[in-house]
Amino acid sequence: MLLASALMLPTPVRADDTALGKEMESIDSAFKAFRRETDPAKGAKAAREGQEAVLKSLPLVPAMIAKMPAGEAKDKAIAAYRLQMGQLFVVFCEVESAFIAKDIPTVTKLVETVKGSKKKGHDDFIEDEE
Ligand code: HEM
Repeated sequence: MLLASALMLPTPVRADDTALGKEMESIDSAFKAFRRETDPAKGAKAAREGQEAVLKSLPLVPAMIAKMPAGEAKDKAIAAYRLQMGQLFVVFCEVESAFIAKDIPTVTKLVETVKGSKKKGHDDFIEDEE
């Protein structure tokens, strides 16, 4: 069975098999923990956990970009990836501040911003399956 799988065509890289995929799981848990939270201390803690995972994601390179041949297009893609990750970090800091200020309406707005960042990040940096 192992031999059979070893001989099969290369299996597509599953996102959660990569170091970045693992950090994304942490980002996902942090986001789920704060998106409906109303307790300031719990929300701020989850936002900080999200920040930590974003910092660990920042130096990593998405599988889609890693496959590209060296050159300007690859440099451009890596720079765009870091820019979006940096923006996500800023949003998670804003979420933390909003919780500390007990400003739940602002948290609710920021949750929508995070959803947009996720969609854009995934549209730009994850290859369509099939
Ligand atoms: C809060 C926002 C985000 C959440 C909750 C999130 C969540 C996830 C999850 C759960 C995965 C695992 C793969 C899957 O099964 O879909 C994943 C993968 C991935 N995400 Fe995100 N994500 C977010 C934002 C972003 C952003 C902003 C970017 C890019 C700037 C990004 C880039 C990627 C990439 C490239 C992968 C595939 C892993 C790889 O290529 O190694 N994500 N994400």
